[in-house]
Amino acid sequence: MSLLKVEGISKSFGGLKAVDNISFEVKEGTIHALIGPNGAGKTTLVNMISGIYKIDSGDIYFKNEKITNIPTHQLVNKHIMRTFQNLEICENMTVMENVLLGFNIKMNKSLLKCSFQFESILDDEEKYTHIALSHLKRVGLEEYAYTLCSQLSYGILKKVEIVRALAINPKLLLLDEPVAGLNSTETSEIAQIIKEISQEGVTVLLIEHDMKMIMNISDEITVMNFGVKLAQGIPKEISSNKDVIKAYLGGGTLHA
Ligand SMILES: Nc1ncnc2c1ncn2[C@@H]1O[C@H](COP(=O)(O)OP(=O)(O)O)[C@@H](O)[C@H]1O
Ligand SMILES: [Mg+2]
Repeated sequence: MSLLKVEGISKSFGGLKAVDNISFEVKEGTIHALIGPNGAGKTTLVNMISGIYKIDSGDIYFKNEKITNIPTHQLVNKHIMRTFQNLEICENMTVMENVLLGFNIKMNKSLLKCSFQFESILDDEEKYTHIALSHLKRVGLEEYAYTLCSQLSYGILKKVEIVRALAINPKLLLLDEPVAGLNSTETSEIAQIIKEISQEGVTVLLIEHDMKMIMNISDEITVMNFGVKLAQGIPKEISSNKDVIKAYLGGGTLHA
């Protein structure tokens, strides 16, 4: 069954068609990768799915229900959650405080500008702290729970962002470049976390550039280039697709 269905969606910025009539389906329980060169329109697409950008045309369905242009906080209520390509972590807060934000996130255009009234977020802080700790434990971050984020490495903060997204118990998780800028150890740790999340029943739409990771953990791949869909298939099909190789690596190999 398709959990997410994107039907002919488009978004322009001035004269630029950032996303041009894109359609694809993400099957429930899968890891579906969205790849393409820089500027292909991947983040714009995620911003459209997650209610941050209003779409110009087309429709988006979640479990066959139309969710086109519904506000982000309603998507969160439907257990659709995303992370950001550019880390959206409140550095002046602890890891725990950042994760607790995830339990009652009301995302605006700029999700986390640390302007939340933190005291008013949680009715039952003890309960949520307990859940947050269990999520932190599973990704090996328990020891940093009460450390200020400003003191932690980028690699750790990328994990914190994933943990915060898990707080709402997502059914669909949109990950925008979760390993960008990380070393190979950190990358394989996050790949493992994504795999585990998926095995627990979370459907993942994964935007990434790391080809080795994409080929290893994706069930299906959609390729974008200049706003349009170039190809879709299983990793084996995509890695041997001539158009994809040309667009993505100027004729090189797609194997990392
Ligand atoms: N808010 C915006 N205003 C104007 N142009 C934008 C905006 N967001 C994205 N774009 C443009 O849309 C195109 C696609 O960008 P993006 O979705 O970020 O690509 P990707 O994530 O695949 O690298 C780029 O040319 C980018 O400059
Ligand atoms: Mg992007």
